[in-house]
Amino acid sequence: MPETSCASTVHLPLGDRSYDITIKSGLLNNLETYLAPLVGKARIFVISEETVTALYEEPVKAALARGGFEGNWFTLKPGEASKSFASFEALTNELLDSGIERSDIILALGGGVIGDLAGFAAASLLRGLSFIQVPTTLLAQVDSSVGGKTGINTPFGKNLVGAFHQPKAVLIDPNILATLPLRELKAGYAEVLKYGLIDDPEFFCWLEENGAALLGIHPDEAQIEKQIYAIKTSCEAKARIVAADEREAGKRALLNLGHTFAHALEAECGYDGTLLHGEAVAIGMVMALDLSVRMGLADANDRDRLITHLKAVNMMWSAAEIDQKLEADSLLSHMAKDKKSKAGQIGFILGPIGKAAMHRGVDLDLVRALLHASICTKPSK
Ligand code: NAD
Ligand code: GLY
Repeated sequence: MPETSCASTVHLPLGDRSYDITIKSGLLNNLETYLAPLVGKARIFVISEETVTALYEEPVKAALARGGFEGNWFTLKPGEASKSFASFEALTNELLDSGIERSDIILALGGGVIGDLAGFAAASLLRGLSFIQVPTTLLAQVDSSVGGKTGINTPFGKNLVGAFHQPKAVLIDPNILATLPLRELKAGYAEVLKYGLIDDPEFFCWLEENGAALLGIHPDEAQIEKQIYAIKTSCEAKARIVAADEREAGKRALLNLGHTFAHALEAECGYDGTLLHGEAVAIGMVMALDLSVRMGLADANDRDRLITHLKAVNMMWSAAEIDQKLEADSLLSHMAKDKKSKAGQIGFILGPIGKAAMHRGVDLDLVRALLHASICTKPSK
């Protein structure tokens, strides 16, 4: 693991849209020193939500004042409901009312909800403003703040209106995770595990050994160092994939491992907190490995390793654990509507641990059978 006394930086090379992801314990308390070289004397318009504002308004406002930055602060309601047309309209009206100009900077301070919404406001307001991501959940630090996908939800589904708009920088302070509820930390951890499953089997092994410590389930003096290592490795993986395929013409779809199943589970449960996105992703990744085993693409041992690890860190791994009555056929019909379906064929990211690839034309009877098994097999802990 790397030293943590200095900042770790991951570069995302995208030509004139290139940027750095900086990871540093305590960064938030010196935010002005990271902002100054990025924004000069531009005004900063912070977009956040009530929970994060209550916890971090004071240190962030103090840092902005020390840096001599002018600007304004906008607080939305926490939760997925804020990624709506109504919130987007209210936010953009407030920003315009407060006199925002093209030379101003939007700073997204929050989890994936705020990052996606503020990013979309930055992409569209005045035909495009610069924005900086300061992600406050593990999910946002390892996934949503990196890569430039921004957007809001519609009654037809999640993230159906949006834009690719890369941030100017991503500033990550892992200390922020200390206030994050364990359930949310675990939801973000599912996306960390995903990078090991996609193309980094050594990272998956490392997580098998260190996951419980970085989640704080086993007390460990090196918890923060382990979190930093996991965040950095995840950001490197995401940056590698986005650099190769910014607009998701091919390789970026690998980031969807487990997500075809997960989106169907989330849609069935509603987006009311019954099932968090990361919880659905964990179950969806088990389903993807199970399908891989059933298709002869992976050894049963790979699927069982993932299940064993999820159990070890007390995370859900089967649909039977979800507090909702589910049916294989209605999950399948959600999957057929997935954004990543092409010519009516559902795309699945499959393969052994560390060698994931896109597959289409999968026998849906196999999928139905595994969904049924996951729904009906009451798992032993
Ligand atoms: P979130 O933003 O709703 O945050 C989860 C919860 O944690 C909220 O209740 C929030 O108030 C609270 N919270 C945030 N930071 C906290 C902190 N430091 N301490 C205490 N509480 C804190 O959810 P999320 O899981 O971060 O993000 C989910 C969203 O991300 C979804 O809308 C999803 O579609 C989106 N997403 C986007 C991408 C992308 O590439 N753009 C990728 C993955 C997910
Ligand atoms: N989270 C999926 C992506 O960024 O492409």
